Amino acid sequence: KTISVLGVPLDLGQGRRGVDMGPSAIRYASMQERITRLGYEVKDLGNVNVPTPESHRVANQKLKYLPEIVAVSEEVAERVAGEINRGHMPIILGGDHSISIGSVAGIAKAIRNLGLIWFDAHGDMNTEDTTPSGNIHGMPLAVSLGIGHADLLQVAGFMPKVHAQNVVLVGARSIDPDERNLIRQSGITVFDMHEIDKRGMSAVMEDAIRIASKGVEGVHLSLDLDAFDPREAPGVGTPVLGGVTYREGHLAMEMLAAANVLTSVDVVEVNPILDVENRTARVAVDMICSLLGETVI
Ligand code: ARG
Ligand code: MN
Ligand code: MN
Ligand code: MN
Repeated sequence: KTISVLGVPLDLGQGRRGVDMGPSAIRYASMQERITRLGYEVKDLGNVNVPTPESHRVANQKLKYLPEIVAVSEEVAERVAGEINRGHMPIILGGDHSISIGSVAGIAKAIRNLGLIWFDAHGDMNTEDTTPSGNIHGMPLAVSLGIGHADLLQVAGFMPKVHAQNVVLVGARSIDPDERNLIRQSGITVFDMHEIDKRGMSAVMEDAIRIASKGVEGVHLSLDLDAFDPREAPGVGTPVLGGVTYREGHLAMEMLAAANVLTSVDVVEVNPILDVENRTARVAVDMICSLLGETVI
């Protein structure tokens, strides 16, 4: 099996510099060697070209860098769909979470009936009407479900990319007031931290995998490193206390590997400027390896 790695060093979806170095930080944490050791062939496609904030102006305060993010998303979607059609498993490295508008679009274009597991402290279900920040990294899950600005919904030429019945949000603990209404109306399944605390990660993931994979041809995992507790993954732009532990995350990834449903992954929001000794990138690589079937013995 061949793994295709694509870096998307985009930081226009949020307000803090440094997340554009996420792909470098994850590669620096020996991702390629670790995956190769598991018996895969790894094809690193390098990075997609992205604009820098210094060379662009914010035109719409409720959708910051909208045209720039749409352009990058189209490029990402095309590249990712190509890798799936080649029979490869894409791993997309962010960048902020707005990159998933393009990655989910591309994967869904190649695999029309797609399940989605969204690991995140946040809902990423805002629109221009609900966003408190205007940051598009708070919107990609809504966009994937067909909710939001038309220019974002039209990426890859079709919408919605996924259906609520196969979408699961895991690890949520910071939702904006109007975003909450959108989540409730959308019909997606949410396993928030309360649910993880009460029932345990094992029971939650059993349900998450069943719901996401029911009747689909593939499942995409969108892994926002801020799902993890900031003590263990401090290098993220929007940290929230009380997150998923390293052990819980590791178990969740192993359960996904065992379910053998995963077609693609994106790993986002790693910001080495805010990190401690590249810890967050190393957590990311450990999780990727667990997803790909790494075991102790
Ligand atoms: N809900 C907040 C917003 O919309 C934070 C979003 C954080 N998203 C993320 N991918 N880290 O601005
Ligand atoms: Mn996110
Ligand atoms: Mn998040
Ligand atoms: Mn283990």
